[in-house]
Amino acid sequence: MQLLDGKLASQAIKDDLKSKVKELKEQGSKIPHLAALLVGNNGSSETYIASKVRGCEEIGFKSTLIRLAETISEEDLLETIHKLNYDNDIDGILVQLPLPKHISEEKIINLIEPAKDVDGFHPINIGKMVQGSETFISATPYGILLLLQHYKIETKGMHAVVIGRSNIVGRPISILLSRNDEPGNCTVTLCHSHTKNLKEICLQADIIIAALGKPGFLKADMVKNDAVIIDVGITRVNDKSKKNGYSIKGDVDFENVSTKCSYITPVPGGVGPMTIAALLKNTFKANRLKQSLVNGQ
Ligand code: GUN
Repeated sequence: MQLLDGKLASQAIKDDLKSKVKELKEQGSKIPHLAALLVGNNGSSETYIASKVRGCEEIGFKSTLIRLAETISEEDLLETIHKLNYDNDIDGILVQLPLPKHISEEKIINLIEPAKDVDGFHPINIGKMVQGSETFISATPYGILLLLQHYKIETKGMHAVVIGRSNIVGRPISILLSRNDEPGNCTVTLCHSHTKNLKEICLQADIIIAALGKPGFLKADMVKNDAVIIDVGITRVNDKSKKNGYSIKGDVDFENVSTKCSYITPVPGGVGPMTIAALLKNTFKANRLKQSLVNGQ
């Protein structure tokens, strides 16, 4: 079994971006600038947004963290996004999800200017992704593709089983892995809470993407020998032995599954860091596309 080390693979991507930012500075070109919006103070969202901002700082991007009260009205949040859409200094806009119940995530996502939608959630960008056109691919699925690429894992002709059909991970990764592209060309089965015979389906998988948010769900008896296991789960579970009172658990029973698979992502340190790297790549791309429109750079 070999670990798919997301820290290592993401570092290579960040190093590359860092040297590109250095070049931009030397040329006097505009530096990528990400605006990250956090509504309320959900613990997990605080952690994610902090690592996104830290990622920007590490490689020399500008970032602006906009903290908004849990009680902000939908109208005021829409107005904030509207201003960012028209702010020439901002290249990428990210609204951390989930949002409070009184705000429609759909309305918020739909208002973000597609050219600044570095999360790749806007319907225009989702549509382009489905068509296989150039676009922003959502950070977690994009990070998984980059990780498979980094470790040169063959996906062509493989049976990939995706567990979980969220708009953020399960559904897009199932589309991406089925594309005629590299990585891609998989036969994909998308499983969810109503899937019958999940164990039998998983046992036929060459690649399993576990993205359902249930700690330790994927057990060793659901995995065939030498399968590739990608664990997207990052659930906080109470852990009195930890100073902060919790530890992060993936969707895979790592201890037992790791004894029979060929590759597996650890949690933490697998898909998580790749998600940040993918977001940074999208922000860099948004900046370059915008600059090429402004002055043909
Ligand atoms: N919440 C969980 N994952 C994500 C993500 O990739 N982007 C945003 N904006 N919110 C999330």
